[in-house]
Amino acid sequence: MRPKRMDTPAPALPFAPAAPWLAPMAGFSDLAFRMLCRENGCAAAVTEMVSAKGLFFGSPGTSRLLDTCPEDAPLVAQIFGAEPDYAARAVFWLAGRGFRHFDFNAGCPVPKVAKSGAGAALLDDPDRLVAVARAMVLAASEARPGEKPLVGVKLRLGVKPPHMVCLDVGPRLAEAGVSWLTLHPRFASQGYSGRSDWSATAALVLAVDIPVMASGDLWTAQDAAACLEHTGAAGVMFARGALADPAIFARLRGLLEGRPLPPPTGPDMAALIRRHAALVRATDHSPRGLLKMRTAVPRYLKGLAGSRALRARMCGCRSWEDVELAAREAERLTAAEPHDPSDRKD
Ligand SMILES: Cc1cc2nc3c(=O)[nH]c(=O)nc-3n(C[C@H](O)[C@H](O)[C@H](O)COP(=O)(O)O)c2cc1C
Repeated sequence: MRPKRMDTPAPALPFAPAAPWLAPMAGFSDLAFRMLCRENGCAAAVTEMVSAKGLFFGSPGTSRLLDTCPEDAPLVAQIFGAEPDYAARAVFWLAGRGFRHFDFNAGCPVPKVAKSGAGAALLDDPDRLVAVARAMVLAASEARPGEKPLVGVKLRLGVKPPHMVCLDVGPRLAEAGVSWLTLHPRFASQGYSGRSDWSATAALVLAVDIPVMASGDLWTAQDAAACLEHTGAAGVMFARGALADPAIFARLRGLLEGRPLPPPTGPDMAALIRRHAALVRATDHSPRGLLKMRTAVPRYLKGLAGSRALRARMCGCRSWEDVELAAREAERLTAAEPHDPSDRKD
């Protein structure tokens, strides 16, 4: 498979409990991983975040984040920035490359992003956030007239407690023409500490008349089913849960359809390792590909009893042959008890 621009119109975005998405994850949700997830029940995916300005002044690295192929659909391109003008220009640029759906990041707490007034910093400047979203909506409809391009916004609760900015700004974003919201219900100041506040997601669902996608602490298919039940969200986005088990999407579908899948076995994980490696090799010819597998394989092995030594060895793996050896050894391992939740931090 060769990364290329998308020339065919992308299918519409699904918003439904049994249509789980892959969340945007900088450094992880690349083309190979998106394809692996799609083959395992993922209904839609979001790119890693790209800087709206970086598209015009950026390195080749920025455009590499947007590598895709016709099978990588439906796909949402996520941008971050703080200026309506650049966000609109970015949408035009992306639409010219075949992208049809766009997401705006208003939740990233990383200081490098927030210091420029982007990401979660926009939750302290809701007027600007709404202006950026409005500019993106206008740009999307002008860039792809007649095609119903969709624009979403991904939010956190707010910058710091107690002010849940998302509940005030959500309805304003909907009024500005945004088609869906995603909420990771933690404050930016929390980083990834504490628990996601799914009650806040439920409140946002009630506050807006557009779909809300739930994110946050969806480590298993059971977590996602509980979150859907608790929040009334239109659907879920898996993030760290998918990094540990890319079949989590199929697990949720199975669970909701009343035919839950058995826990993953060594041979299941070996097959995932081999498929991930094949997809990385087909899409990324740089040394980065092998480095990515070095971190991915130990995550896949974590739930298997007796995998500790193999995991430690994989961190130092130097070749694709080493990856294959790890897959072969994984085949012999058995499923362990479910992860201890306190051991789940990324
Ligand atoms: C390594 C990593 C990278 C992330 N990158 C992005 C990103 O580029 N854009 C974004 O909106 N959220 C990003 N997120 C947040 C996730 O999309 C998600 O909202 C968050 O991890 C909560 O879900 P979880 O607890 O199920 O992992 C990232 C999260 C992680 C762990």
